[in-house]
Amino acid sequence: MSLLTWNDSLALQHPVMDRTHEEFVGLLGATEAALAGPEATLLARFEALVDHTVEHFAQEERWMAATGFAPENCHAGQHQAVLGVMVGCARRAGSEGGDGEPVDFEPLRMAVGELATWFPQHAQMMDAALAQHLEAVGFDPATGVCQQPVHAEAQAISGCGVGHCG
Ligand SMILES: [Fe+2]
Ligand SMILES: [Fe+2]
Repeated sequence: MSLLTWNDSLALQHPVMDRTHEEFVGLLGATEAALAGPEATLLARFEALVDHTVEHFAQEERWMAATGFAPENCHAGQHQAVLGVMVGCARRAGSEGGDGEPVDFEPLRMAVGELATWFPQHAQMMDAALAQHLEAVGFDPATGVCQQPVHAEAQAISGCGVGHCG
């Protein structure tokens, strides 16, 4: 049984975001399935997850930038922190282990379980708030256009729309 499988509670009724999130869950599941196999396969799958996550987070940050968020906001900050850990885990498990340290798969192995716990929380709070915001301003991800004008003079959004945050 996978730690995390795609399910209705993760869907945010934002088709592009949901598709990206379903891909993330699939790549994480493929990484988890490789935990018991050869380390080269495990690393390759984790690196595919990292590559996908770079674009996943960048996509949400482009949407935030287009709809009135400040460049520094707590949602983007959490992306940066999580991606930093993922890149570090991949580097430690890579051929040089990163920074001259010995190769170590332990951080990567731990990250797989932690990501399966982190992702639903992030999706259901920060990403859900972003999806609601995009809906409210009528943002079309295909064209990058908002139906509701984003007022440049309005204060840029630095929170993530989650009640206790920002
Ligand atoms: Fe997301
Ligand atoms: Fe996000």
